[in-house]
Amino acid sequence: MSEAASSTYKVRFDENNQEFSIIGSMRPQYVEELDSCIRLMETSIAKVKGTVYVNVKRLVRLNNLAFHVLANLLVKACAERPDLKISVITSSVVGWSTRKFSALREISPNIVIEQYDSAFYPGQTFLEEGGFIPVLRTQTKMTWQHEKAILPQHGMREGLTIADICCGIGDFAVLLHKEFQPARLVALDHSKSSLAYARKVAADFGIQGIEYIYGDASEMLLDEGQFDFVTCRHSLQVFDRPELILRELYRICKPGGRVYITNEKNSHCLGEPRAESIQWTYNEVAKLWAHFNMDIELGPKSRRYMTEAGFEDIRIESFMVTNLDGDPQNFADIIQSWEDVYAGQMSVQRGDSAEFNEKFRRGFQDHIFAALHPKGYAGWPVWVASGRKPQ
Ligand SMILES: C[S@@+](CC[C@H](N)C(=O)[O-])C[C@H]1O[C@@H](n2cnc3c(N)ncnc32)[C@H](O)[C@@H]1O
Repeated sequence: MSEAASSTYKVRFDENNQEFSIIGSMRPQYVEELDSCIRLMETSIAKVKGTVYVNVKRLVRLNNLAFHVLANLLVKACAERPDLKISVITSSVVGWSTRKFSALREISPNIVIEQYDSAFYPGQTFLEEGGFIPVLRTQTKMTWQHEKAILPQHGMREGLTIADICCGIGDFAVLLHKEFQPARLVALDHSKSSLAYARKVAADFGIQGIEYIYGDASEMLLDEGQFDFVTCRHSLQVFDRPELILRELYRICKPGGRVYITNEKNSHCLGEPRAESIQWTYNEVAKLWAHFNMDIELGPKSRRYMTEAGFEDIRIESFMVTNLDGDPQNFADIIQSWEDVYAGQMSVQRGDSAEFNEKFRRGFQDHIFAALHPKGYAGWPVWVASGRKPQ
């Protein structure tokens, strides 16, 4: 990794990924102010074979002078090296950047612009669309009964500054707000429909003090080291590279603060009676998610991910949401919403046969049967992990 920095921006080259990142605000008055950045970029591009990625997802401001300097450099590199491809990665979070950098496509066919949005990771469209709202609602309703008691064992207490990253429809943030009265609570997600829903719920219930932010969890515009407690629930499992999100959670956490994650291992869902059919379907759920580069088996891998991300004092536990946690119909509602999304949209998009789909759906229905049966038992295990960022 090589770096150059000014007081307002940072440029970084990661040789392993052939990725050049520009972060912050780049508004020079004179070209000379960009000298170190230009030098780093030229030497980096010279080392690259194939495609170089220019990541401007966290470049929040860029004046015309800086844009022209960058544009000239990229166009010149393509002209001198016809083998070179340049992929500029922009973000929908920073609205202007796609429009501005798209001009380069007209000048050189070897420059492509990719805007990070829901299409970037294949699986995320399912999760970012409004259809997932009922799933999240019912899930949080049931997991909260467990997490409310578990959170303090992971360092949660009143008066902390908290960030809930990938907050979905914001239910968890609302519950945290009521139960633990944080000094500040930021909730970030990349789904505009979920955030709109979250803001409406907060307004309907007269809740003030939760800052809902549209953002990309893999490149957050939040400053580093500002939160005592960072939560990210059921979301590392939806990314094809969870370590990149964890790196960001670590970055925004204060030294001495804690990051708290929850994830699943769906193949361990269980039920009696009809255990075999249920087991078969949830093994298939794991394969279906893997097909879309998501890992719904991530739960027990949390210890490894957190250790490799540099956390200390890692605490792990699991709890089982069951049909006996209150009204069994709530449990049945979760399973129904899984069936709707997994055996609906996702299975169809993978191109599954009608025969497969019927068997796949049967397992969910059998799980519901077990949940509602007067002598039945149905469970959904969840893994909790937290770690401290070293001082
Ligand atoms: C399975 S949901 C979990 C939501 C919530 N934490 C909960 O437990 O109910 C995953 C969430 O991650 C969000 N997400 C996906 N990609 C994201 C990204 N790059 N940046 C921020 N949020 C993202 C989705 O919009 C979705 O709300």
